[in-house]
Amino acid sequence: MNLTELNKVALAMVTPGKGVLAADESSGTIKKRFDAIGVESTEENRRDYREMLFRSTEAMNQYISAVILYDETIWQDAKDGTPLIQLIEQAGAIPGIKVDEGTQALPMCPGELVTVGLDKLAERLKKYYERGARFAKWRAVIDIGNNVPTMTAIHVNAHALARYAALCQAAQIVPIVEPEVLMDGDHDIDRCYEATQRVLNKTFQELRVQRVALEGMILKPNMAVAGKKCSKQASVDEVAERTVRLLKACVPAAVPGIAFLSGGQSDEQATAHLDAMNRIGNLPWRLTFSYGRALQAAPQKAWSGKAENVAAGQRAFTHRARMNALATKGEWDSGLEKKAA
Ligand code: 13P
Repeated sequence: MNLTELNKVALAMVTPGKGVLAADESSGTIKKRFDAIGVESTEENRRDYREMLFRSTEAMNQYISAVILYDETIWQDAKDGTPLIQLIEQAGAIPGIKVDEGTQALPMCPGELVTVGLDKLAERLKKYYERGARFAKWRAVIDIGNNVPTMTAIHVNAHALARYAALCQAAQIVPIVEPEVLMDGDHDIDRCYEATQRVLNKTFQELRVQRVALEGMILKPNMAVAGKKCSKQASVDEVAERTVRLLKACVPAAVPGIAFLSGGQSDEQATAHLDAMNRIGNLPWRLTFSYGRALQAAPQKAWSGKAENVAAGQRAFTHRARMNALATKGEWDSGLEKKAA
């Protein structure tokens, strides 16, 4: 393992003014997104859609540091035969790959999940590295509910995240460690804070036990927010203040960067929260975005599967990428959203 090189890649992923595009929806998830815009989820449509994003020159050159791909995409070619991964590299962004294989029911823990995919991971990482991937992603899913999360679910998921991260670093790939505490449900921000704290503490404990070099990884957490169905939603400043406090308490300064997931927040909320956190300033790590839905909902709608809408889709993507890029520097302003609309 060359830690200097891993650290360089990790820092490049969180370059101020840039962030990560999470375009790694599994076949099941992208079908759900396509269903919502009335597009059939064929291999060709998935290719065309992602090609549209990766050919968004302004967004890719200026605001996107890295792109997370799904296995199908990393082996796919654009319409003209250029490998999609090459479009990303040509834009100066770093290609990466989702390597977890989804979730399974966790025995003895009704309703809870464990992320799987460690078997043969070392061999798969080697192939992805040869193809050009320089980072990877593994997502653990933790739910908040009645007597949930259990310590069991937190422990097994943290253990798997650390096993994955160590395998990545041994393969010279920067691991994005993503323990996502879901915002479904009616819990308040305090419960989210408490659950996320338990999850992050356990995750970093496991990372240490398994000798993962913190300088060569990126953390992808949820923010401290109230559940979607909670009647008492927190303000933007409260989310920012709580999230920063939580991360300061749990995330060592050796971690080069934190790239948030959007997790079902609206596009503008996700941007406003990131912006407010970066306005707090004086943070030990760089804070950026690694959004899926909050970057793609608008371009998906604008595109709607029609070739004549590609330019509109690219404009919508570029706008969201630019708004979030500004938020990484605490320079976003809601007035910019209205102007664009
Ligand atoms: P969302 O931003 O839509 O939560 O997706 C990010 C991601 O990569 C989840 O694993």
